[in-house]
This record gives sequence, structure tokens and C-alpha cells, in this order.
Amino acid sequence: MKKENETPTTENKVCVITGANSGIGFETAKSLCGKGVTTVLVCRSREKAEKAITKIKKSIPDAKADFAIADLSSQKQIREMSSKLLKRYPIIDVLINNAGSWYSDFDLTEDRIERQWAINHLSYFLLAHLLLPAIQNSDDPRIINVSSDSHFQGKIHFKDVLLRKNYHGLRAYAQSKLANVMFTLEFDRRKPAGFEHITINAVQPGLVKTDIGLKHTISFHGLMWKIRRLLGVSPEKGAETSVYLATSEEIKGVSGKYWDKCKPKPPSKKGTDKEDAQKLWLLSLEMCAIRNYFP
Ligand SMILES: NC(=O)c1ccc[n+]([C@@H]2O[C@H](COP(=O)([O-])OP(=O)(O)OC[C@H]3O[C@@H](n4cnc5c(N)ncnc54)[C@H](OP(=O)(O)O)[C@@H]3O)[C@@H](O)[C@H]2O)c1
Repeated sequence: MKKENETPTTENKVCVITGANSGIGFETAKSLCGKGVTTVLVCRSREKAEKAITKIKKSIPDAKADFAIADLSSQKQIREMSSKLLKRYPIIDVLINNAGSWYSDFDLTEDRIERQWAINHLSYFLLAHLLLPAIQNSDDPRIINVSSDSHFQGKIHFKDVLLRKNYHGLRAYAQSKLANVMFTLEFDRRKPAGFEHITINAVQPGLVKTDIGLKHTISFHGLMWKIRRLLGVSPEKGAETSVYLATSEEIKGVSGKYWDKCKPKPPSKKGTDKEDAQKLWLLSLEMCAIRNYFP
């Protein structure tokens, strides 16, 4: 039982969360602020970040909310933001890789990478690597990767991972969400001495009523999403498993699992394929120009 004057354990924590200005990420950030966690909202623009923080502070006036700016499709911007964060926060307890996107049309980022692959997978892989020095300093460090049950339909197209020849928004999305699961499990298997205390888990938030399928889609796909999300839960509900993984004492030390409704469940067969996960790891290292992932 909590003793009088005892500070709840979450109150000294620092959490960095990407894609925090809307949907599941916003509700996750708000809920963490409500628990006293110092929450860093990673957003694409200062305007979006400030708007989100103002909204949080309306219901939680003493929220310890900070922000960092990066377009996560740009590896340069991820690197610049990470070096600023490392200076500001020598200890990061939780990293929630939550940002995600859905593009109907094929296009490349400034790094010449297909957009969903860059944002939904490579930004998770790169950010976790860059923030490791601060994550490593926590006594209960946790990395949470927001994936999706869409990964069950996914396949890593190793011969054409950018889907140049065969692009479809759903195919690219499912591939990237499968990569989230494979990255999570492979990171957990690869953790060398000095990094074993870091836990890493993947989350499926469920079908959630957000605008993800409206932002960068053609009108037909947007309409399909509007119909589909009618069956979804609220973003607040969709945030519950991420918040649980970030703050729960009972899962301290639990790592390398796929979570749904605050319970672990088996991911797809492809998600647990160790050989493919190793191939994906090497490919991701190359695409992010990382020489030594665990420095
Ligand atoms: N909604 C669902 O049913 C569902 C189901 C399973 C999994 N998920 C996953 O849940 C996560 C959150 O999605 P959501 O449904 O909450 O959608 P959302 O409201 O659109 O949130 C996505 C967030 O990611 C940010 N983002 C996208 N591209 C970015 C970029 N290049 N740079 C910086 N930030 C970027 C968005 O910022 P902007 O507002 O600036 O675009 C937004 O804050 C995603 O990983 C998604 O795959 C969602």
C-alpha cells in the first residue's frame, strides 16, 4: 500500500512520445501527464505541439509537458532532435514510438525512402538507437512500439521493401506494422551486456476512431476509413495499453512481447521469424546508416 508522503513512482519519470498531437498519442500523453510523468510530446511543428499542450493543461493545469519538434520522415531531423533531447534529458525512462501514417500514393522522403516505411518503421528503429544513452540511464527503462493487428496481413518485401513496383497503401502499412513487431522482438534478443535492463514491447491499440486514414489518403480510402472507424473505440481507450506498459509496476522487467488490451498475445508467425528479423535488422541498420546499434 502507498505510504503517506510517498511519491508515486511515475512522478519522477520522463517519457518521450512521438505523434503526440493527435489520436492515440495525444491521449497517451494526456494520461501520462495526469500521472505526473514529465511527458515530451514529439510533434511535426511547434504550433501542433503547443496546441496539444494547451489542451492537456486545460484539464491538467500542473501537467509537466514539454515538446520536441521533428518531421519523422527525415532522418536528419530525427538526429537533430535526439541530440537536443539527450542534452535536456540525461535520463529517459520511457520512449513510446507511436507516430504513424497511411499514404494512398507512393512517394519518397528526402532520404529517398518510401514514406510509410520511413515514418512507421525506420523512425522507431532510429529514435530508439539515438536515445539509448539516456534510456540506458534509467533504472526501469521501457521502449514501447505502437504496432497493429494489421501486421497479421503484413509481409516484409525484402526484394522491394520500398514497394516501388507494387505499392499499395494497405500493403505498405501492414509491412511497416509487421516491422514494428519484428524490431521489438529482435531488439530484445540482441540486447548486449549493459542494456539487458531495457524492456521493449509492441502494442496493438485496437481499432480506434482517429483521423489516420483521412490525412494523406485519396477520397475513396478516406471514405472507407470513415466507415471502418465507426466500429472503433475512442482514442482514450486506444491509449490504455500504451499507458499501462509505460507505467505499470506489475510488468516491470517484462520484455519482448506483443500486447493487446493490457495482455500479451502471440503475434503473427512472420512476426516471430528470427531469420527474417535478422535480415530486417541489417537492412534497417543500412537504411539508417547505423554502424553499431548498441554503442
Ligand atoms: N487508429 C487505429 O485504429 C490504429 C490501429 C492500430 C494501430 N494504430 C497505430 O497507432 C498509432 C497512432 O495512430 P492514430 O490512429 O492515433 O493516428 P493519428 O491521430 O493520425 O496520429 C498519428 C500521429 O503521428 C504523427 N505523424 C505522422 N507522420 C509524422 C511525421 N512525418 N513526423 C512527425 N509526426 C508524424 C501525426 O502527426 P500529424 O498530426 O502532424 O500528422 C500524429 O500525431 C500509429 O502508429 C498507428 O499505426 C492505429
